[in-house]
Amino acid sequence: MPTRPARRPEEVLLRSRTDRRWLPGALAELDRVLVDHAHCEKKAAANALSLLQAYPEVPGLPALMARLAREESAHLARVLQLLDARGLALGRDPGDPYAQGLQRLIRTPAAERRLDRLLVAAIIEARSCERLGLLAEGLEEPGLRRFYAELARSEDGHQRLFLRLAERTAPESALPRLDALLDAEAELLRSLPLRPAIH
Ligand SMILES: [Fe+2]
Ligand SMILES: [Fe+2]
Repeated sequence: MPTRPARRPEEVLLRSRTDRRWLPGALAELDRVLVDHAHCEKKAAANALSLLQAYPEVPGLPALMARLAREESAHLARVLQLLDARGLALGRDPGDPYAQGLQRLIRTPAAERRLDRLLVAAIIEARSCERLGLLAEGLEEPGLRRFYAELARSEDGHQRLFLRLAERTAPESALPRLDALLDAEAELLRSLPLRPAIH
């Protein structure tokens, strides 16, 4: 009897799939994607430390964010090695309209802000997981394929981690709020131009 195909990890969260035109564009301008990817890993590491700084009272959060910052920094170091091998410079971060659009959805009151920051982090990890997985499937070079497959698995773990923390801090409201943010994320993605970038 044939086994069912494994569920794709990003289906845990996301409400829309990436436009099929994204992958060919990304592969055609892989250098730009790699530079953007380095900035993403840098921001993921920085955000983990920022959450640790802001919410030390959440049980388990400080240790989890310390480990996450280390893991994202390791991803960053490996992407920087790839840039180096291709003679690419990191340069300044031009900003990411996708992440900025999600940040604008974060509410102001302290408890809501804490929940939204965790949920937005979960959603960004989920979308990164999807996109890195697409790269893993689309790239030709075996080393790069393995690298992106490994990172996609890692970001899948991160989306789950943030979701657990969100549910721990707001057991009643985490899932309804996630629902609303997922709708908003799908809408945001539809409204943005496709770019040779992770988001
Ligand atoms: Fe990462
Ligand atoms: Fe991550």
